[in-house]
Amino acid sequence: MAHFYMEPSRTFSEFLLVPNLTTKACNPANVSLKTPIVKYKRGEAPKYALNIPFSSAVMQAVSDDRMAVALARCGGISFIFGSQSVESQAEMVRKAKSYKAGFVVSRSNLTPDHTLKDVLELKERTGHSTVAITHDGSPKGKLLGIVTGRDYRVSRDAQTKSVGDFMTPFSKLIYGKSGITLSEANDLIWDHKLNCLPVVSDEGNLEYLVFRKDYDEHKTNPTELLDANKSYIVGAGINTKDYTERVPALIEAGVDVLVIDSSDGYSEWQKDTIEYVKSNFDDVKIGAGNVVDREGFLYLVEAGADFIKIGIGGGSICITREQKGIGRGQASALIEVAAARDEYFEQTGIYVPICSDGGIVHDYHITLALAMGADFVMMGRYFARFDESPTRKLKVGNNFVKEFWGEGSNRARNWERYDTGGKAGLMFEEGVDSYVPYAGSLQENLGKTLHKIKSTMCNCGSITIPELQRNARITLVSATSIVEGGAHDVILKENNITGE
Ligand code: IMP
Repeated sequence: MAHFYMEPSRTFSEFLLVPNLTTKACNPANVSLKTPIVKYKRGEAPKYALNIPFSSAVMQAVSDDRMAVALARCGGISFIFGSQSVESQAEMVRKAKSYKAGFVVSRSNLTPDHTLKDVLELKERTGHSTVAITHDGSPKGKLLGIVTGRDYRVSRDAQTKSVGDFMTPFSKLIYGKSGITLSEANDLIWDHKLNCLPVVSDEGNLEYLVFRKDYDEHKTNPTELLDANKSYIVGAGINTKDYTERVPALIEAGVDVLVIDSSDGYSEWQKDTIEYVKSNFDDVKIGAGNVVDREGFLYLVEAGADFIKIGIGGGSICITREQKGIGRGQASALIEVAAARDEYFEQTGIYVPICSDGGIVHDYHITLALAMGADFVMMGRYFARFDESPTRKLKVGNNFVKEFWGEGSNRARNWERYDTGGKAGLMFEEGVDSYVPYAGSLQENLGKTLHKIKSTMCNCGSITIPELQRNARITLVSATSIVEGGAHDVILKENNITGE
């Protein structure tokens, strides 16, 4: 006979946090959101920890190299989408890893044999007034000089004049050496009253330009997530089909953390994929999922996974439950897996972080997920709304929106995520193509969300995530108390704040 769960499976909106004593130490400024992302032994530190408990979904409409840089800058991690060729995904990882805040790869470059006319045309086309002059006109060629508006007079100089005759030659340039930090570069800029500082390798090749105007914008963010070389920490999604090809390419590109992206991770294919990674790349960290119960969690942990992702059918663009009738309310899944994780830690001394993936609608759902035991959350819709997501911003009616589509939609065609063996490709969709309201920049929105989380944690008498997980008191709510939770029995004025 089939097994029946007689309790209904629950979602975040069915719960509320009950405040604990807020001590004077419970101040949002004192709250740390640091959280492990990969497994570690009791008493040791994990190899990777996030500074904020956020990851962006393995989706075409969410996580590319730009999102990876923007989120790592705020302390979280993006998993760059895998439903693209191995080469283009590896290229995105490479770009995100080589990005250095404030260090710009020169985009306007010429050779000494070009003319003033070429300089003016380039300036008109790109809007850049600083042109690097390299031996071959490439952004990383041997640096021979720089041209700025101070080097020529359009009214006096002939347009045929050679760049080599009016550029500021390398011998007269102040430059920084490879490896210089942003604040050292800024000191040179101030000491020598420069607008732009070239950074040059030992061989004399141009590496970057650092601009005076960029410094304030790129001042080090105290929560940014950096590796030992001061590059951003970057994740990437893989599948259980082409991993022997994809994984080596991603590692070669510098990826830090992998995750197997699948709608149902309780499978022998995931075990094979984890075993391949662990036996060929000892030191590489790999998460697995998605699962919704204790059995799925333990299976993947025993296969060697470094973290486990939870959630089937709760994603905003997901129609898996309608199409196939599988899944579980996100809160119920999380509560069961968190208990299994704690029990496993108790027995083995190994802590395996868990990630609650999908179904976050309100900011408070994130705090609830953490209180229920998640170490971090993964979100698609939340990040898709921002400037930094890879999709188009459009005007629909009077509103700006961003496009957002599921990996199981015909648009993404990520069949590897849904494949359950047999015939290649899938016969039906498990995701939709949609819009989300455009919300502006990631940093600004994230700032508000983080403040809400910290302030709620203070209400719950906790200033760290482990404290919240230990101390939180959570209550189920009735349908009528949900009504009580919104504005009610008043006549709302126009332009009311909507809550997000
Ligand atoms: P959201 O934060 O509610 O938008 O959920 C994002 C999550 O939905 C992703 O991290 C995936 O786990 C899941 N997902 C992405 N695309 C699809 C799809 O097409 N169908 C079902 N689930 C999806």
